[in-house]
Amino acid sequence: MHENTQEITDIILMAAKNAQMETSGEPEPEMTQPIQWPVQCTIGPGLEGGIACETKIGYVNGSKGWLIYRGYNIFDLCAKSSYEEVSYLLLHGSLPTSRAFKIFQKKLVDYRYLNKTLRLLMGFPVEDMNTMGALRMGVSMMRQEFTFRDQKEGHDFGEVIGSDEDSIPMELKPWGDKHAIYEFNNPDVPHKSTLDENLEEAFGVEACYHLISGVSTIAAAVTRVRQGRVPIEPDPGLSHAGNLLYMMTGKKPTPIEERIMDVALILHADHGMNASTFAAMVVASTQSDIYFSVGSGIAALNGPLHGGANEQVMLMLEEIGRPENVKKWLERTLNKKGKVPGFGHRVYKAYDPRARVLGPLAKFLAKKNSKARNVLSIAKELEKQMTERLGSQKKIFPNVDFYSGIVYSCLGVPSAMFTPVFAVSRVAGWTARVHEYLHNNRIFRPRAMYTGEFNKELLPINKRR
Ligand SMILES: CC(C)(COP(=O)(O)OP(=O)(O)OC[C@H]1O[C@@H](n2cnc3c(N)ncnc32)[C@H](O)[C@@H]1OP(=O)(O)O)[C@@H](O)C(=O)NCCC(=O)NCCS
Repeated sequence: MHENTQEITDIILMAAKNAQMETSGEPEPEMTQPIQWPVQCTIGPGLEGGIACETKIGYVNGSKGWLIYRGYNIFDLCAKSSYEEVSYLLLHGSLPTSRAFKIFQKKLVDYRYLNKTLRLLMGFPVEDMNTMGALRMGVSMMRQEFTFRDQKEGHDFGEVIGSDEDSIPMELKPWGDKHAIYEFNNPDVPHKSTLDENLEEAFGVEACYHLISGVSTIAAAVTRVRQGRVPIEPDPGLSHAGNLLYMMTGKKPTPIEERIMDVALILHADHGMNASTFAAMVVASTQSDIYFSVGSGIAALNGPLHGGANEQVMLMLEEIGRPENVKKWLERTLNKKGKVPGFGHRVYKAYDPRARVLGPLAKFLAKKNSKARNVLSIAKELEKQMTERLGSQKKIFPNVDFYSGIVYSCLGVPSAMFTPVFAVSRVAGWTARVHEYLHNNRIFRPRAMYTGEFNKELLPINKRR
């Protein structure tokens, strides 16, 4: 690891130590175990508490504040791993050997180039669109680049269309499998959850690699177009995190910036059966398409109760303006029964381990950024007052979204792109969980309790009131 990024590793190790100390008194969680279907459990509205499937991908323990990917603690992964390794881990179940990693990395680098997708995307007024809407549209277009599925049998464009000597080849013949995801539901293709070292045994994951890499190219292109600039070609020499920052800002990131973005991507990569993961899985369970499935994840993540909260946090901190205004603002908001963005969580009733890392990283970055220092001082005051009022009473603490916006701003990411950057990372979790679920697929179909009327008489229109 680069020498001057050691400070970042030290921040993560300190967060791990604090988490350990502060939750050591909490009872050990119940051991998890395979399910004997049908299972009995208590379900709240919105399926809260319901168990929909088994998974080996990730585990969240709300009272201990644990987040675990495939058996590894999130703090260890942040301290010692990279987003590329973590995506491989989530998808394939184990950390890669150096040989497998080299092949995997090359695939990700190759899939950064989305020339045809970007050409299609530029035909739309992306600069005026909601950024998550643009991202979602781009993902649907990526599908066209990868698969022949919508084409008639035998239809062939030839190798390259419409390029001249000065331009990059914009339109290529789709080069994915004729049945791309469709790999998932092709009975002739055996599903394998483990790989040989050459990744050659990997069926049904090629489109996942394409998405893990390509969504970041689209997010970066949307950022540039919104600034009136043209998208930047990826840099194959940079890491996933470094290249994302480079393609968004046009500047090569410093090792520290690259490392912090990498940690942020690791922290956001997976998080249990959250709303966007569930949305992605529901779509996949119909044997639809991994691109449509990830598009649904993006749509669900957009909401302010989910991934959209990070942008709301920055708007709120701007509105508060100064630490001295926090008390009055909070009083007013809580009196109106308003929710404070960036606080509370459906699962965590302890401090969110991701916020434990992102908070100190925001502080680290703010040292050299006076605007961020002011925003951070408001955030710190708000955290203090929220925790005093609702911490022990309602177990409400900062969540992942509270400090991520400050971190992203310091890295040069515009606020409208915070949620798309969350999506760039979460693609790893979405694809891994969809892939796992489809090994044992059962279409999702919960019930709603009908509380309406029966036996109503159908009146002609002139007799209705
Ligand atoms: C994340 C969230 C949707 C979880 O919701 P939930 O598990 O359904 O929790 P509830 O909405 O039932 O809240 C339980 C209680 O805590 C309060 N509460 C929860 N989050 C709160 C917040 N951010 N600010 C103020 N009060 C909050 C609720 O008002 C409720 O109080 P009550 O019992 O007096 O009615 C919710 O905490 C929230 O809206 N947070 C803000 C948005 C956000 O940051 N989302 C990103 C999540 S990672």
